[in-house]
Amino acid sequence: MANMLYEGKAKKIFETDNPNEVVIYYKDDATAGNGAKKGTIVDKGIMNNTITSFFFDLLGKNGIPHHQIEKLSDREALCKKVTIIPMEVVTRNIAAGSLATKMGVEEGYVLARPIVEFYYKDDALNDPMINADYAEAFKLATDAQVAELKAMALKINDILKAFLAERKVRLIDFKLEFGVDKDGKVILADEITPDTSRLWDWDTNEKLDKDRFRRDLGNIEEAYQEIIKRLTGK
Ligand code: TMP
Repeated sequence: MANMLYEGKAKKIFETDNPNEVVIYYKDDATAGNGAKKGTIVDKGIMNNTITSFFFDLLGKNGIPHHQIEKLSDREALCKKVTIIPMEVVTRNIAAGSLATKMGVEEGYVLARPIVEFYYKDDALNDPMINADYAEAFKLATDAQVAELKAMALKINDILKAFLAERKVRLIDFKLEFGVDKDGKVILADEITPDTSRLWDWDTNEKLDKDRFRRDLGNIEEAYQEIIKRLTGK
């Protein structure tokens, strides 16, 4: 068995024979509220590997550099090894979740323009929100890298929003992580799944994402499966 480099809440990362490549293994474990709520979603790992592969393929074809090399199996993907920039980059089109609470608007409030937010990736601190100045001041990323993160997030938003709209899915918000590869280039990493985004049915606003787990709405597996069906037609 290959050496495990890291185990996160939803994925494990294994070494390969190539020092520049890793295998990411997608688990069924689900957490919410930074681990306060724990459970499993049946076959989530399989569904999220499929969904991430699909989105990374789409983004790659649209000029976004990313870490994924190939999907290896149901739950495994071969990826470039990167040094993760310890910032979560959240892009929002419509207010929901923490933004709706913070600004005192109903979920579904349409933002006049997209918002990009940064959070410091640190479970012990509960991933506090930060701004661009914190990134350079605390040596998380340089100003140039932060500008790149924001530009990439907005470009990814345009690509995903348009693609999903054609499939009758509304892209409410999503979280991205980026890494620096062996050549020092900033590339998209981690995952893009219903765990890390809010996806609503276009006509009914039905939630097709992890809010079904966070809020005990039921039919979680069906919602993830529905996203795969909308993306792939299968
Ligand atoms: P929020 O409304 O809770 O701030 O979440 C915004 C989006 O970011 C939502 O699609 C869920 C995603 N997200 C993560 O993927 N990981 C996290 O740790 C948090 C807080 C949010």
